[in-house]
Amino acid sequence: MTGKSILEGRHVVLGITGGIAAYKSVSLLRLLVKAGAQVQVIMTPAAKEFITPVTLSALSGRPVISEFFTANTGEWHSHVDLGLWADAMVIAPATASTIAKMASGVADNMLVTSYLSARAQVFVAPAMDLDMMAHPSTVRNIDTLRSYGNIIIEPEVGELASHLIGKGRMEEPEAIFNVLERYFSSAGDMAGKKVLITAGPTYEKIDPVRFIGNYSSGKMGYAIAAEAARRGAEVTLVSGPVSLSVTHPSIKVVRVESAMQMLAACEEAFPQSDIAVMTAAVADYAPAHPAQVKIKREKQDVPVLELVKNPDIAATLGAEKREGQIVVGFALETDNEQENALDKLSRKNLDYIVLNSLRDAGACFGTDTNKVSIFSAAGVRHDFGMKPKNEVARDIFDTILGK
Ligand code: CTP
Repeated sequence: MTGKSILEGRHVVLGITGGIAAYKSVSLLRLLVKAGAQVQVIMTPAAKEFITPVTLSALSGRPVISEFFTANTGEWHSHVDLGLWADAMVIAPATASTIAKMASGVADNMLVTSYLSARAQVFVAPAMDLDMMAHPSTVRNIDTLRSYGNIIIEPEVGELASHLIGKGRMEEPEAIFNVLERYFSSAGDMAGKKVLITAGPTYEKIDPVRFIGNYSSGKMGYAIAAEAARRGAEVTLVSGPVSLSVTHPSIKVVRVESAMQMLAACEEAFPQSDIAVMTAAVADYAPAHPAQVKIKREKQDVPVLELVKNPDIAATLGAEKREGQIVVGFALETDNEQENALDKLSRKNLDYIVLNSLRDAGACFGTDTNKVSIFSAAGVRHDFGMKPKNEVARDIFDTILGK
């Protein structure tokens, strides 16, 4: 390690649960301690079957907490104090069972109780067998944790303790450590900035019960909003109809349905914005004459829908932008990716365009991962690997901020 680590002096609660990967937590603890962090280890009772508290307390220089009370003295360990003390909480490894308890608030051990009391950012590094990882209950619970704002450090694909090969191997300690370092080095670096984000699909009414829409889940835009807020920005998230929710106090959500409504909301927020990120999958066309009453199948011939072009929101903002305002667009392409993306960049007068190709498995509507390339108007191209959408969001702002 060269130079001073951003983690020096930070308070980290390291939660360890009962999985084979618990042995890797020793290396993570060593990295944190070497970086100058103060680490309080909390183990679930099952974790003690895998590694001994003695090793962990010796390395951290603090007694490991596992029970609500110290057996011989009766001293009560305050999860509330720990929750307030922590600058970050890392749960590595996180088993399916602990993840389920965290998702539903089953506070029957010191670790989950502290988790529920923690005000700091929580990082969760799952580790389990591939079938447990893929089970709908685990998938749903991890999604729930994500919706609470927890950062999931995705497990790797590799050989598991069962000797089966698949997704479920806890991320390496160095990689977890890097996630923490990266988190702290960018916290608050967008303070004072106002960011406008569009997300989700738009619905264009055909009649009161039918619409033209698309498969956009809004996940990328919501991840970008969360990242901007985490970095200290004030965010206006103009969202088409999606099933996602937002809890961060610095994110104002403006819910809209149609492209016209989305444009109006953007026009209102854009003059005060420093950065606009356009992730919405705006419907290109809308019915010219939406019916006021439900179109009845039996009463008429097959209807012919006359369509009109919707406004291009990104291009409108691109044309209106003042000196210093940054507009970022997305391009979802299936062919001639770079050419089409660069064409959109100049046509819409954008400063950056984020290209994702539908050719990449995992980079698609509704997924939690994405693989992007970012092109700047200055002609610089940055390529990134397949990553969770919250990390893609970080890459986008790192690129804009020149980090
Ligand atoms: N966009 C927008 N308003 C529209 C259409 C697109 O703001 N009416 C934005 C998107 O949010 C995205 C970028 O423009 O940031 C590119 O969107 P895309 O649908 O790929 O571009 P289109 O201009 O619709 O081009 P095409 O459908 O021909 O690929």
